[in-house]
Amino acid sequence: MPKEFVKKYIDLLALHKLNTFHWHLTDDQGWRIEIKKYPRLTSVGAWRKETLVGHSTDDPSAERYDGQRHGGFYTQDDVREIVEYARARFVNVVPEIEMPGHSVAAIAAYPELGVTGEPTEVATKWGVFDDILNPSDRTIAFMQDVLTQVMALFPSREIHLGGDEAVKTRWQASPEVQARIKALGLENEEQLQGWFMKQMDAFLAAHGRRLVGWDEILEGGLSPNAVVMSWRGEAGGIAAARAGHDVVMTPTAYTYFDYYQSQDRDHEPLAIGGDLPLEQVYGYDPIPAGLEPQFASHVLGAQGQLWSEYLPGPKAVEYMAFPRLCALAEVVWTPKPRKDYQDFLARLATHLERLAILDVNYRPLGRP
Ligand code: ACM
Repeated sequence: MPKEFVKKYIDLLALHKLNTFHWHLTDDQGWRIEIKKYPRLTSVGAWRKETLVGHSTDDPSAERYDGQRHGGFYTQDDVREIVEYARARFVNVVPEIEMPGHSVAAIAAYPELGVTGEPTEVATKWGVFDDILNPSDRTIAFMQDVLTQVMALFPSREIHLGGDEAVKTRWQASPEVQARIKALGLENEEQLQGWFMKQMDAFLAAHGRRLVGWDEILEGGLSPNAVVMSWRGEAGGIAAARAGHDVVMTPTAYTYFDYYQSQDRDHEPLAIGGDLPLEQVYGYDPIPAGLEPQFASHVLGAQGQLWSEYLPGPKAVEYMAFPRLCALAEVVWTPKPRKDYQDFLARLATHLERLAILDVNYRPLGRP
């Protein structure tokens, strides 16, 4: 997304009293932040040779690609400008640097980060991939170098390291990785991921920061300082809060703004799938019903997710974000007894006039 649109989006967050911009900067299909010590992360990792058209299918021979090179990245000057722009609007920018999975772009840039050492390409389709960072001292040092530059750019106390959907097949098949598991006295690959994240947790903590991760980071033993984003439902958030960790509630069923807004899919732009109408967002309660009251203060809030693989540009982002983001803003700011969907809808009608004046491509109300 263009830098100027990122700023517009931050303005819209501030307008809705949302105080955090979680910026997902690296994934299999692109590495989007300049790291001066490792220029190939962007000279190679920021570019893919083409992109899948439509959804992937079980039959790869039926898939079509657009043949267009795609990519780009934010320079460190861009990042500083955006972080300062956000700060002036009381929005904290939390960067996400994914590890150990969702790292194909990094491995394409530096194959030695991977398990096989074989050259690979930046991913051209969506989903999860077998390639994963290796857990060597060298790779850990590499990613900590990256984090050193990231921390210099982002004053945020929280630094997000992903941790989701890390497929373990490469680790299972590698004699070196299996030897590493043994040498560390670990039982399995999940514990190895837990160990890997703990190395990062300690590094961030030594610099006064704290790790945020998706709820998979619970599986291999939670890092002592970690904040958990509970996306696969609420269970991860509940378990983490009970264990004394702060959590951000991000469950797919209520907060994935990349899901369809209507079951009338023929008249909606292509999306990943799922079903999340406006009323369902409004009905969300960020304090899980199953969480004992003494742990509720660990819930820092809730967050809307706007994964953009099916969002070709700013107007598509706006369409998916609005007005669901307006509903989320009320969800996180309104005491439960005062929530009233009909009242929200009445006020939203006026609010949409504001969004129109701001040239926001919101999804109109009343569409089936
Ligand atoms: C996620 O949606 N993989 C966090």
